[in-house]
Amino acid sequence: MMDKDLEAEIHPLKHEGRKSQENLGNTLKSEDNLKIKPPPSRLSRCRTVAFFLSLFICLFVVFIVSFIIPCPDQSLSQRMWRIHYNASVTYDFLAVEDINKDRIQDVLFLYKNTDSSDNVTRSCTDEGFSIPCTFVAAVSGANGSVLWEKPVAQDVALVECAVRQPSDSKASSACILVGRLGSFIAVDLFTGETLWSCPSTIGGNASILSPLLQVPDIDGDSTPDLLILTREGQEVIGAIYSGSTGHQVGHRSSLDVDGDGGALLHVTRTGAHYILLPCASSLCGCSMKGLYEKVTGKDGPFKNDPLWENILNSTTRGRLLHSSGAVHYLMHVPGKAGQDILLVSSESCVLLDGQDLMPRWTLGTTQVLRKPSLGRYKPDTLAVVIENGTSIDRQILLLDLSTGAVLWSQLLPSLLGGPPSTSLPTADHCSAFFFWGLHEMANTSEMEPQDTQQSLYMFHPTLPGILLELANVSANIVAFDAILFEPSRHAAYVLLTGPTSSDMPGLVSVTKHKVRDLVSGSRVVHLGEGSPDSDQAIRDRFSRLRYRSEA
Ligand SMILES: *[C@@H]1O[C@H](CO)[C@@H](O)[C@H](O)[C@H]1NC(C)=O
Ligand SMILES: *[C@@H]1O[C@H](CO)[C@@H](O)[C@H](O)[C@H]1NC(C)=O
Ligand SMILES: *[C@@H]1O[C@H](CO)[C@@H](O)[C@H](O)[C@H]1NC(C)=O
Ligand SMILES: *[C@@H]1O[C@H](CO)[C@@H](O)[C@H](O)[C@H]1NC(C)=O
Ligand SMILES: *[C@@H]1O[C@H](CO)[C@@H](O)[C@H](O)[C@H]1NC(C)=O
Ligand SMILES: *[C@@H]1O[C@H](CO)[C@@H](O)[C@H](O)[C@H]1NC(C)=O
Ligand SMILES: *[C@@H]1O[C@H](CO)[C@@H](O)[C@H](O)[C@H]1NC(C)=O
Ligand SMILES: *[C@@H]1O[C@H](CO)[C@@H](O)[C@H](O)[C@H]1NC(C)=O
Repeated sequence: MMDKDLEAEIHPLKHEGRKSQENLGNTLKSEDNLKIKPPPSRLSRCRTVAFFLSLFICLFVVFIVSFIIPCPDQSLSQRMWRIHYNASVTYDFLAVEDINKDRIQDVLFLYKNTDSSDNVTRSCTDEGFSIPCTFVAAVSGANGSVLWEKPVAQDVALVECAVRQPSDSKASSACILVGRLGSFIAVDLFTGETLWSCPSTIGGNASILSPLLQVPDIDGDSTPDLLILTREGQEVIGAIYSGSTGHQVGHRSSLDVDGDGGALLHVTRTGAHYILLPCASSLCGCSMKGLYEKVTGKDGPFKNDPLWENILNSTTRGRLLHSSGAVHYLMHVPGKAGQDILLVSSESCVLLDGQDLMPRWTLGTTQVLRKPSLGRYKPDTLAVVIENGTSIDRQILLLDLSTGAVLWSQLLPSLLGGPPSTSLPTADHCSAFFFWGLHEMANTSEMEPQDTQQSLYMFHPTLPGILLELANVSANIVAFDAILFEPSRHAAYVLLTGPTSSDMPGLVSVTKHKVRDLVSGSRVVHLGEGSPDSDQAIRDRFSRLRYRSEA
């Protein structure tokens, strides 16, 4: 019985084999005959059966492994998550860091919960604040679960995360928060534990100027120290605090310059530190050496640059450079040797050499009301993204950083104070850019600000005639960023939405959304003449984009 079955299985194979071999032609025939002529013994038949059986089993196993058992999803990240806080307000702050060490970036943000029925707010009093107070929260980038949250201030004025801590401290990195009403606290970035907390010496009348500056170590604890600038009347006052204890170093001192927020700590190519500030229609500055000497009454580790001292000596109140129009932003950009300075005023954008302050290029007739951002339009070449004008006339310009030439420009109406543009490096050494605008050049003059929908657009320089509309958002956007959650993949956006005013608590939410998922449901906007590709082909090209971690 068994044997008959086997015979039946083997014979077709033999026939098959003969047929194909006949087709091979005359040259092989003689060889064939030699092989086939001797009648197969029972043993060799068994061998053949065993051979084919094991081959079949092998193939079956390969088939099972490669097709039927699905690959385990390598990413533990959810593609989208959202968390809510009722009756809250939030702040324009988002930071990312891998907090739970799962190799997926996590998200930090601030909120203030005014809902006293929510028992988490009770811990405000535990930290010595009255209810409501401001919390810093760290949520998992993978699934949005809260990793830690902690009351940090009555109302936060300045926040800076990932500040290095001394090696003998229990934390390697901290978030430093300065409260509006005299609190000053550092929490462990990874656990939320308080590292130190001090009453700050900032007076009630002073307005705290952003940002919190980190200066080279002064008190010998091998961690950067902190410089807080405040404005009291016409004076800009500086105070230095230890980065590892929060204690003030020396006295507060006037910088003897005018100026508002947006200061920058600049290091010249000769290694001299200067604090730069936008002031009216000038760039103002003062030397860190001078401030240190006034604050401590001692000679410090800082030095002066003779060229800069000459300029400062010939002007009053720290004016380094006169600008056409009010200076809005100062920004560091990488230069050929060290950092250069991009100065944005109400009338122009100027790239200043980081050593001699000479303009490298100037782009006139611009009205930039938002801090520029950087990205790559051509491979490995930095471009500056500026937004020229506001509302219906807003134009996005990509400028070559080294020449100031306009590489790409597009009219994209926006709301006043809409979210900033951002970019993510892609594997082709360019960047994917993300811009916010009003949906399809809508008639803004007719719309109520409440029901205006803002749309997120994606752009990649390999398709300069295409904008991809990724999402429509009608909530008020407080902060936004595009983030690479895992190296080389999983690019996602994080959106922090909340009430427009801190006097009107409402729903605060944080959302993460994977970019590739949005691309598949996006709307393709053709700029200028139509592209030969179909919309689906364009979406496919965008979803095939690979992202690169910035070195
Ligand atoms: C927030 O408020 C809504 C209704 O306004 C309620 O359904 C929801 O459960 C609340 N969420 C929390 C976390 O309290
Ligand atoms: C919040 O309230 C719930 C129930 O009312 C309680 O189980 C929980 O322990 C409280 N949490 C805190 C942090 O007090
Ligand atoms: C989120 O992921 C963490 C592990 O990374 C897990 O402990 C937690 O339970 C998850 N939370 C949710 C809501 O899935
Ligand atoms: C704040 O300024 C007002 C008027 O300039 C002054 O009267 C008051 O004493 C100041 N308060 C503090 C705490 O400095
Ligand atoms: C600045 O000017 C003062 C006198 O006006 C002079 O004594 C000083 O040497 C000058 N400093 C520099 C660095 O030129
Ligand atoms: C900026 O916008 C203004 C007004 O919309 C326009 O006149 C000017 O040419 C624009 N600048 C550039 C560099 O395109
Ligand atoms: C926008 O609204 C104005 C005033 O209502 C109207 O004159 C104009 O035609 C509208 N434009 C478009 C594009 O609908
Ligand atoms: C945004 O909304 C408009 C209409 O309001 C719609 O045509 C468009 O498809 C939406 N875009 C996305 C990405 O959903």
